Amino acid sequence: MQKHRKLISIVGARPQFVKLAALHEPLRQRFHHVIVHTGQHYDTNMSGVFFKSLGIPKATVNLGIGGGSHGAMTGRMLGAIERVIAQQKPDLILVYGDTNSTLAGALAASKMGVSVAHIEAGMRSFVKQMPEEINRRLTDHISDLLLCSTAAAVKNCRSEKVMGEVVHCGDLMYELLHSHRDQIKNNRAVLTRHDLKPGEYLLATVHRAANTDSQENLSAIVDILCEAQWPVLFPVHPRTRKMLRVHGLYRRLSRAENVTVTEPMSYHDTLAATAHARAVLTDSGGLQKEAIFLRTPVLTLRRETEWVELVGRGNHLVGLDGGRVRRLLKRKLRVTPPAYRIGRRKPSEIIVAAITRFLF
Ligand code: UD1
Repeated sequence: MQKHRKLISIVGARPQFVKLAALHEPLRQRFHHVIVHTGQHYDTNMSGVFFKSLGIPKATVNLGIGGGSHGAMTGRMLGAIERVIAQQKPDLILVYGDTNSTLAGALAASKMGVSVAHIEAGMRSFVKQMPEEINRRLTDHISDLLLCSTAAAVKNCRSEKVMGEVVHCGDLMYELLHSHRDQIKNNRAVLTRHDLKPGEYLLATVHRAANTDSQENLSAIVDILCEAQWPVLFPVHPRTRKMLRVHGLYRRLSRAENVTVTEPMSYHDTLAATAHARAVLTDSGGLQKEAIFLRTPVLTLRRETEWVELVGRGNHLVGLDGGRVRRLLKRKLRVTPPAYRIGRRKPSEIIVAAITRFLF
C-alpha cells in the first residue's frame, strides 16, 4: 500500500548525490521514489561519476539548469520543478542540504501545497552572507518534516520555532561512508596515481564563494598550499579553477612543486585520499565530517562551522591563518569521532520511519 505513495527527491549538487545514495534503496523499498536532477552540477566528474559509482539509478528527469547567477538559477529551477510536480503529483518532496536546488525544490513544492521533508535540516553558520545559510534557513521554515543530523541542528530548529515536525535522525553521510568503509580504506590507487605516501601529504579542497570570489582570500589560500611543508593533493572545483584564473593565481599554484592540481575526484577516491592524508584542509561541510569519521584531522579554512560538535574532536577552525596552519601541522593532532547513529537505528531507517508516520 505504501508503494502507492510517491516521493520525489530533488538533487542537483555533489553532496546531495551522496545523501541520496544512502537513502534511495530504503526509500525505494517502501515508496514509489522518483529522482529529479536539477542539473546544477553537470560535469561528468561532478555528477555522473557519483550516480554510477554509488549505484544511484539515473534521474527520471534532468532539468539541465546549471550555471548563471544564483538568483537566475534558482528562479529557472522553481518554474521547472513546478511543472514536474504538476505532472508527477507526488505526496512528498524530499530536499537535501543547502544548495539552490534545495531551496527551489522546497519553494516549488510548498507553493503547490505539497509536503516538504528536508534532509540535514537545522544546520547554521549564522553568517547571512553565505548563500547556503539563506537556502537552509528558508527551506527549514517551509518544511513540514525537518530531519536533523545533529543535536545542535535540532536545537537550532527549536529556537527558531520552525513550523514543521523536527526529527533527530543522525548522519546519512556517515551511514554511507560506513557501508563503503573497506572499499575506501583499501583503495590506494589514488595515492599511487599521484605518488603520495600514507600519512605524508595533505588533501585540500576549496569552493566556498567567500574563499573563491575574493582575490585576497583565494591568494591567502594559494599561499597556504604552496608554503605547506608537505605535498598537497588539490582536486579543484570548477568554480575555484575559474576564479584562480580570474585572480591570476592559477600559474603560481600549478607550478608549485609540492602541489598536485587535479580534476574533481570521485567519492571513493576523495575518501581514500582523505583516509590516508596527514590532514585535510577544506572549506567543505561534508568533507569536514567525512575526515573526522575516517580519523583524519581537519583544518577548516573558515572561521565558523555548521558542524559545531566536531570542533575539539579533530576539526580546527583556522580561517586563512597560514601561521596557525603551519603550527598545527607540526603537531600530532588527535581525532575522536562523535556517534553518527541515534541508538541502534541507522539514519536512513529513522528517516523512512518518520516519512511513513508523516504520510499515513
Ligand atoms: C554548490 C552549492 C554549495 C555546495 C557545492 C558543492 C549553492 C549556493 N552552493 O556550490 O552549497 O557545497 O555546490 O560542490 O547551491 N560548474 C561547472 N560544472 C559543474 C558544476 C558547476 O562548471 O558541474 C560551475 C558553474 O557553472 C558555476 C560554478 O561552477 O560557474 C559554481 O557552481 P554552483 O552550482 O553555482 O555552485 P557551487 O560552488 O558548486
